[in-house]
Amino acid sequence: MAQPVPNAKGLPDQQLSFSYMQQKGQVPGLKSVSNSVSSSHNQGDAQHLPDFTMPVPQTLRQPAQTQRSSRTQPLSQTGARSSQPTNSQQAIHPNRQNFAYGAVGSKPTRVASNDFFTIGPYRKRKDQSRVSVVERYDILGYIAAGTYGKVYQARGKLGAFKDNLYAIKKFKTDSKDNEVAHYTGISQSAIREMSLCKELNHKNISKLSEIILERKCIYMVFEFAEHDLLQIIHYHSHPEPRPIPQLTLKSALYQILQGLSFLHQNWILHRDLKPANIMVTSDGIIKIGDLGLARKFNNPLQGLYSGDKVVVTIWYRAAELLLGARHYTPAIDMWAVGCILAELLSLRPLFKGEETKMDNKKQIPFQENQLLKILEILGTPTLEKWPSLNSYPEYPQLSRFTLFPSNLKAWYHTNGGTNKNCLKLLSQLLEYDPSKRINALEALKHPWFQENPKPVANIFEESKFEYPQRKIQKEDIDILGKGQGQGPYNRMQHYGVHHGKRAYPVANGAEYELNRKRLR
Ligand SMILES: Nc1ncnc2c1ncn2[C@@H]1O[C@H](COP(=O)(O)OP(=O)(O)O)[C@@H](O)[C@H]1O
Ligand SMILES: [Mg+2]
Repeated sequence: MAQPVPNAKGLPDQQLSFSYMQQKGQVPGLKSVSNSVSSSHNQGDAQHLPDFTMPVPQTLRQPAQTQRSSRTQPLSQTGARSSQPTNSQQAIHPNRQNFAYGAVGSKPTRVASNDFFTIGPYRKRKDQSRVSVVERYDILGYIAAGTYGKVYQARGKLGAFKDNLYAIKKFKTDSKDNEVAHYTGISQSAIREMSLCKELNHKNISKLSEIILERKCIYMVFEFAEHDLLQIIHYHSHPEPRPIPQLTLKSALYQILQGLSFLHQNWILHRDLKPANIMVTSDGIIKIGDLGLARKFNNPLQGLYSGDKVVVTIWYRAAELLLGARHYTPAIDMWAVGCILAELLSLRPLFKGEETKMDNKKQIPFQENQLLKILEILGTPTLEKWPSLNSYPEYPQLSRFTLFPSNLKAWYHTNGGTNKNCLKLLSQLLEYDPSKRINALEALKHPWFQENPKPVANIFEESKFEYPQRKIQKEDIDILGKGQGQGPYNRMQHYGVHHGKRAYPVANGAEYELNRKRLR
């Protein structure tokens, strides 16, 4: 017999209603269905569960005799947990074994049973087999509140994780309107960081041990790093400036370049390199962290600019980005490395501009003050040295500024720099024209790294400095956030500084200052 075909839209011409009824006797397994459906509504309030309708392929509606397979058994023999079919449903299609039969009014209604079309029991089983984050880790305190969530220090309790230290990054999943928190799902930043980090394995990239999804929250578990470059710079600049030893500085830069060259070779732009995002383990190994803004650039689904209009914390933002570049390259990360090298040398941000905030129209503002800081040190760029300069959208803005000569050499010497090769590398990293800027692989071969002292694996080797341990706020170990509110996502009060809107995703000077204060 010919099979009826779906209508022109490919939809069946009849829909079966799967009604979630409260009559437990009739609908075995209903409770777990209820829980899963209601989890984002009123937990346990199954009385008010919405019915839902689900299209079912026509074949399901065929008379049983024509459909029944010799391999299948009637429900009663399969032991499927469902009530018996009514008279009008004498025989059962094999696929129907997964439905229970309930009655709504006089019409027989197929009700989703435990095993099919319901995620409730599956989820319940899965949840039962899951070991909660607090069963796996002792939460020792919280390290930092960042743009997208909060980072906790934790010690592993089980198996290979036992006794190791971890940094658990918990992503917030809510936003707040008029004091009411809304579940907003998984942030773009979390998705990027998860998808990229789990693929990456390099000694100079922060290692992701595992990802835990629990009660709608994402926990990314990283190997713990005792220090970060912001903390080290702060230690050397307070109370009075004490230069970072040359071997530490050179080895740190070399390892940053190793991690970055690995990212770039794998077609990944970091897009938020800055001292706070560069971790250092207690045995002196650099770990580039915070891939929340990182992106693949080999085959983007949409232009880099159209997806993310603002990238890189302003002080580390490359000249071409400030001039409105629509297409950019790994050279933006190299510029940030130049800024970091200068900061390690002088213990102060090199281009500490003031950020112009986005206006109400959400137009990307021209960052005049930031560009001015750059011009004051690097001089005004010229078409001769940067031939594509006039193709940038903000090129006309350059005429607003007076002409500046290059002062980088003077800056370098004023800040205690003596090594010619180091100055050369600095100027190659801060080259205006991105197509001429040194890349990570070339930088690793730079003469500065060939001469003594050569970079070493432990950046603290031969150093007399003892850096303080990371500050951990011991009073907050409530990683699940059970202490307050009903759900895990009503936690906005915990997150110190954040820029809730995706339109302005990167940490700015204010956060940097806050981080600095945190270190004091
Ligand atoms: N693996 C780690 N070990 C120790 N501290 C970390 C680690 N990863 C991050 N942190 C701390 O948490 C801060 C915020 O983490 P980060 O990944 O940069 O998130 P955000 O996107 O919020 O800036 C970092 O600046 C650092 O102080
Ligand atoms: Mg960060």
